[in-house]
Amino acid sequence: ASSHHDVHENLLQCFISQYSSIPISQVVYTQNNSSYLAILDSTIQNPRFSTPTTPKPQLIITPLTESHVQVAVSCSRKYGVQIRTRSGGHDYEGLSYVSDVPFILVDLVNFQSISVNVKDNSAWVQSGATLGQVYYRIAEKSKTLAFPAGLCPSVGVGGHLSGGGYGMLMTKYGLAADNVIDAQMVDANGIVLNRVSMGEDLFWAIRGGGGASFGIILSWKITLVPVPPIVTVFRLNKFLGEGAIKLLHRWQYVAPNLPKDLFLKAILDALPSQSGERIVRASFDALFLGSADKLAPLMEEGFPELGLKLKDCIQMSWVESTLYFYYFPLGTSLDVLLNRTRNKDFFKAKSDYVKEPISENGLEGLWNRLLDDIEVGQVIFSPYGGRMSEITESQIPFPHREGNLYMIHYRVAWEEKGIIASNMHISWIRKLYSYMAPYVSKFPRAAYINYRDLDLGTNHNNGLTSYSQAKVWGHKYFKRNFERLILVKITVDPTNFFRNEQSVPAFTSGG
Ligand code: FDA
Repeated sequence: ASSHHDVHENLLQCFISQYSSIPISQVVYTQNNSSYLAILDSTIQNPRFSTPTTPKPQLIITPLTESHVQVAVSCSRKYGVQIRTRSGGHDYEGLSYVSDVPFILVDLVNFQSISVNVKDNSAWVQSGATLGQVYYRIAEKSKTLAFPAGLCPSVGVGGHLSGGGYGMLMTKYGLAADNVIDAQMVDANGIVLNRVSMGEDLFWAIRGGGGASFGIILSWKITLVPVPPIVTVFRLNKFLGEGAIKLLHRWQYVAPNLPKDLFLKAILDALPSQSGERIVRASFDALFLGSADKLAPLMEEGFPELGLKLKDCIQMSWVESTLYFYYFPLGTSLDVLLNRTRNKDFFKAKSDYVKEPISENGLEGLWNRLLDDIEVGQVIFSPYGGRMSEITESQIPFPHREGNLYMIHYRVAWEEKGIIASNMHISWIRKLYSYMAPYVSKFPRAAYINYRDLDLGTNHNNGLTSYSQAKVWGHKYFKRNFERLILVKITVDPTNFFRNEQSVPAFTSGG
């Protein structure tokens, strides 16, 4: 314990000496600091990783400048302490702020600036900004520009862009990571790099390969995409008696083949009904890049069974649609996009890719599992196709392109504290995942890295992971791009300084 203490003291001294020109109290927080816990908790999105026994960082660093980030790398490297980098804190397994080995947290909360350039349709966005802030700042300058990224406004740019990032514009414009054109990062040597100085291999890796394996990404230059001043949205809820399962079955044939301007996802939610029994609701949510009178005939032609009426369609600006799809009531002020926190419940989630339509029987089994007496089960079906099929599997590390009909996201959430509740819900979702095995992608059973799931496999926390161990989860997230990610890793971080339970290993042999 005393050597632990010495490392901690030395590390602190390292920061104090390097940060001599700034008020250290604004940047370095020890566990004794009265703000330490508040800062740590500020963006934890899953309270499963915020308990008294959750391992905590030795220090929290909230850098104000890039040189503070460089010092964080050099000091922690010098004293053999790991770094966890946090932008928005939405990591499903808490990897951005929890580790079993001694670590410091570099929290990019002070890296939130966004500068939008409507002259060349681009923006520089710092990693600690949220998606909501990005949408808000774009809308401030233009009603006809957008950015194709996720639905939850409090998600951080840093994790989201480095892991892919999808939302309602995915079939039109691809992922957030597909629309990154430059980046600024600090590597394992503490050097600041941009696209030219990092080279195309590292630039490839950080757009979907998970940033945490390669360094600390400070900011991103993104391409803004054109949208019409008015878009149309709808949400149609269907229950069992209304043929919801048949509609969902049909959706699998329709949604991936719709025109790129029309994105139609399906969501199953388990809810308590008025009589107290559980029911499942299927909702079909759509974004159309055009007016309602053009959408109605498209739906009539492509999916008449859904029965969309003109009166179900609502016209609004694109930025207003981002509020709509996150369930804010109509008329909510855009200011909510600037809010960095959200309601926090305990949750566990998983993902799957579907290549062949699932039979009605298969869907019925899924539906019935949602009726189990668990607190909140939710399954989201997001269609692929369109632009997603045009981008090759190796364009960026995110490999799930042509041949995928849609992605499934399973989520279970609960409010009760403690390990018993947690185990019960996690075991429920694991059973659901086994049930789905015959219906989804195989060899590998693919998964989305931004829906991080440590059930898929992990590295040893001492960093001594074999290739054969890592490729189990690596191929699920990255398919054959995993080997190229390893080659990049060997080149830019051969000592495996930046590592976590699912970081890209720095070697290809062994094991
Ligand atoms: P966080 O800060 O937790 O980081 C996630 C990972 O990236 C960690 O490993 C972290 O170390 C690393 N990292 C973060 N910043 C870094 C940096 N600057 N440099 C290097 N590494 C860095 N996804 C999606 O595609 N579409 C969606 O609609 C949604 N919706 C959604 C809703 C909710 C409620 C949650 C909790 C999550 C989502 N997601 C999502 C998933 C989301 O994209 C994913 O969790 C992102 O990694 C979150 O990025 P944060 O910066 O918030 O996470």
